[in-house]
Amino acid sequence: MPTKSELRRQIRELLSVQSAELRATKSAAIAEKLFKEARFQSAKTILFFAATEREVDTHPMIERALKTGKKVVLPFSRMDTIELELYEIKSFEGLKRSAYGILEPVPGVHTKVETSSIDFVVIPGVAFDRAGNRLGNGKGFYDRFLEKISPNVPRVAIGFSFQMVDQIPAESWDIRVEKVLTD
Ligand SMILES: Nc1ncnc2c1ncn2[C@@H]1O[C@H](COP(=O)(O)OP(=O)(O)OP(=O)(O)O)[C@@H](O)[C@H]1O
Ligand SMILES: [Mg+2]
Repeated sequence: MPTKSELRRQIRELLSVQSAELRATKSAAIAEKLFKEARFQSAKTILFFAATEREVDTHPMIERALKTGKKVVLPFSRMDTIELELYEIKSFEGLKRSAYGILEPVPGVHTKVETSSIDFVVIPGVAFDRAGNRLGNGKGFYDRFLEKISPNVPRVAIGFSFQMVDQIPAESWDIRVEKVLTD
């Protein structure tokens, strides 16, 4: 089995060579699947993530969720504690790029929300397997976060088909997702 770092390298390479056009088309197909999920439809408060330029594009999903009256929450990565802090956003205005180039809410500007108010989590990742094992960017932010959130809250990952691999070498702290929506 390839190691986590080998898998990260392989899949990041595939992400980096995908055209903007394919990324957009596939992301739209994934968005359709997400908005068809019954538990997504009934959720009032959604934790999304702001995608990098290579990941499944969440921007149109967030705009659509805001338009349909959902409360949209984005994470702010606390580098000191490796924790995700959650803030409600009303638009993309006022978000700031983190050291990793990810758009994030600004503590003190955006309104902080409690983990318990989230009723659906959309999860990013570099690679996934059919058992729901997930490989992230290697800091453990989502593993720590998913440990804290109620097990009743749907946690659904989104990724391109080429991000599905045979087996992720999961470790004791790795937390699985329920399903992965792909193109
Ligand atoms: N719940 C936790 N408590 C303490 N340390 C943790 C926890 N979860 C993960 N870690 C640590 O975080 C580090 C990175 O974990 P891992 O390689 O699984 O990251 P990842 O899942 O790829 O990243 P991410 O969750 O940020 O997308 C590991 O050294 C691991 O020990
Ligand atoms: Mg992990």
